[in-house]
Amino acid sequence: MGVNIKLAENIYEVGYIDWTVRDFHSYVTDRGATYNSYLVLDEKITLIDTVKAPYWQELLRSVSALADPAKVAYIVCNHAEPDHAGALPQILKAMPNATIVCDTKCRDILAGYHDISDWKFLIVKTGDTLSLGKRSLHFIETPMVHWPDSMLTYMPEEKILFSMDAFGQHYASSSKFDDLVPIEQVMEEAQIYYANIVMPYGPQVKKTLALAAGLDIRLIAPAHGVIWRKHLGRIIEAYKDWSICKPKAKVSVIYDSMWESTAQMAREIYEGACRDEVEVKLLRIRSVGNTRLVAEVLDSACVAFGSATLNQCMMPAMSSLLTYLRGLRPTGKTGFAFGSYGWGKGGPEEVHEQMQAMKFDVLREPLKSKWRPEAACLSECRKTGALLAEKALELAGR
Ligand code: FEO
Repeated sequence: MGVNIKLAENIYEVGYIDWTVRDFHSYVTDRGATYNSYLVLDEKITLIDTVKAPYWQELLRSVSALADPAKVAYIVCNHAEPDHAGALPQILKAMPNATIVCDTKCRDILAGYHDISDWKFLIVKTGDTLSLGKRSLHFIETPMVHWPDSMLTYMPEEKILFSMDAFGQHYASSSKFDDLVPIEQVMEEAQIYYANIVMPYGPQVKKTLALAAGLDIRLIAPAHGVIWRKHLGRIIEAYKDWSICKPKAKVSVIYDSMWESTAQMAREIYEGACRDEVEVKLLRIRSVGNTRLVAEVLDSACVAFGSATLNQCMMPAMSSLLTYLRGLRPTGKTGFAFGSYGWGKGGPEEVHEQMQAMKFDVLREPLKSKWRPEAACLSECRKTGALLAEKALELAGR
């Protein structure tokens, strides 16, 4: 259950801390997750977002500790995805006097998931405001950050931006503020969250940042993870970089191997790329996993993808990663494909095609080895690794 963290006088976080979840629609949540919900005690008692369906009783218990649920006047629904709106049917039974406040697209999506025939709605759009008594809510639609219905809610009297998924992290912690938890862990999880959830929508994120820049913000209260109160500048700057997939002087060598030929090539590329000014990572797909790999790609200037050949195709783990990555639409990346083959060809070639489909600046034809890589092949790997490092420095403007 939640721990009812106080954000300001009569404003609390009452959501659910999901310590045990490790799979969030395929996103691996190593540090758990939270579904944040905010309760505003004012003349009109208001709940901002709810939680995943299974945790409605915990949410209700947290709300009940602070207010009579029957007196809740509004439930703001910033986003209809079930991790935030799944509990609505049960919560509305306990809050029969509540009106749902959302935009038209949100109502349409809610209608796709639930029987809304007896739900009361107040439909809002950008620029609309709602007085709760001493405080008010201002609504800003942010379509495709990251669903069509996504919306921010701003409370000017307390300078709080309820930011929905934006600036969120899958990070379970009993402390709810960014200065009370290890900030590097939180930033790492924020980057992973951005890469897996928000990356395809960089232009929309830029627009959202421009809107947020016009607001006086003391707290950013997202729907997942910790609340930003000390490191607001840092997370906003990070979002600016991530929204354009800004390249760091970083090379990622990402591969899968059968009998270690591709692994040998990967290590030579990695060693060729290593130099003091460049961050270089050697990442075996089945050891690291797609969730973290896409976050590595997000800020890499250059990526080498390597696969052995299995049944004249790339390895299944590489196929899974590249299919996932293509949907996430990273931009401005440079790299090349490599890998091994034996009696049948196809692995590195398929990787090469996928990189082209993702509009990578592909530096060369696939670098290949038949069976075990010989000295000339390994030397070529090392040279191409060095080229990647040079390119990464150039792209990072160093
Ligand atoms: Fe956390 Fe898009 O839902």
